[in-house]
Amino acid sequence: MSVRHFLTLLDLSPAELTAVIERAIELKALHQQGSAQALMKNKVLGMVFEKSSTRTRVSFEAGMAQLGGHALFLSPRDTQLGRGEPIEDSARVMSRMLDIIMIRTFEHEKIQRFAEYASVPVINALTDSFHPCQLLADIQTYVEHRGSPQGKIVTWIGDGNNMCQSYINAARQCDFELRIACPPGFEPDTELVARNRGRVSLVRDPQQAVRDADWVATDVWASMGQEQEQARRAEKFCTYQVDHELMSRARSDALFMHCLPAHRGEEVSAALLEDDAVSVVWDEAENRLHAQKALMEFLLLNS
Ligand code: CP
Ligand code: NVA
Repeated sequence: MSVRHFLTLLDLSPAELTAVIERAIELKALHQQGSAQALMKNKVLGMVFEKSSTRTRVSFEAGMAQLGGHALFLSPRDTQLGRGEPIEDSARVMSRMLDIIMIRTFEHEKIQRFAEYASVPVINALTDSFHPCQLLADIQTYVEHRGSPQGKIVTWIGDGNNMCQSYINAARQCDFELRIACPPGFEPDTELVARNRGRVSLVRDPQQAVRDADWVATDVWASMGQEQEQARRAEKFCTYQVDHELMSRARSDALFMHCLPAHRGEEVSAALLEDDAVSVVWDEAENRLHAQKALMEFLLLNS
C-alpha cells in the first residue's frame, strides 16, 4: 500500500472525505461521552511549525493525547531545519522515527517536496496556498448544523488566499456552488478557478455574492507573511467586511464561518462574530480537534 498524504482536500476522494467527516462526528461524541479509545497508542506525530499557531498546534497535540499517542513540537528555530538541512534529508530522517508528520510552512512546493521524500503520511497544516485541515473542520461544522453541503450556495468574502483556495477544492469535493467576492488584484489562483468553472465564480460585489447564500465565510485581509501589507490591504478591502447587514441578504438560516484568528472591525464586525445565532466560529475551532483525529486515523489505516 502506498503512503497517503493530505496536502490538499483533493488527496481524499469525495467518498473518503465524507467518511472522515462522519468519523470526526463520531469521535467527537465518543470524546464527549468520555469513551475515546487509545487508537494512536505508541504512535508519534511530528509537528513542524514555520509559522505561528494556536488552534492547529493545540488541536493536533490534544488530539494525539486523547487517542493515547504523542506529539512533538518542532520549530525551525531549534531544529536543523532552520539551519538549512535539506528538506529531502529531514523528510527521510523524520520518517524513520515518526509515524505521521504535519507541517505548517510558506511555499506549498516545500511540503510537496517533503512529502515526496517522506515514507509516512504528511499533513498540510497550512501553506501559503492551502489550509485543508481547516476545511475538514468547516465542513464538519456545516454538516452538524445544517446537514450535507451538497447543492448549497457558499460565499467567500475577502482575500483569495489559502483559505479561499481551499474552499474552491471543497466546492469540488462536496459539490456546492462557491461565489467569491474579492477586490481586484486579490483573486485566487486563475488556473484553480478555471479548473472549477461551473461551480466557482468571481462575483466582485459582496452584496450580490451573498444573495441566497447558505454559508458565508471570510478570513483576515493580511495573512501570515503579509504583515507589511496590512495598511495597503485594509484600504483595498474596506468594503469587504462581513456584518449583520451583509448577512441579511443571505438566506435567513445562513451560517457564518471564520477560521480565526479574527480581526474584529476589519473582515468581520464584532457583533456578527459574537452572534451565536449566525456565527459558528467556536464550534468550527473545536472541530479542528475531532476532524484531525479522524484524518490521522484514516491516513494511518490506509498507508
Ligand atoms: N485557524 C487556524 O489554523 O488557526 P491557528 O493559526 O491558530 O492554528
Ligand atoms: N489566511 C490565514 C489563515 C490563518 C489560519 C493565514 O495564512 O495567515
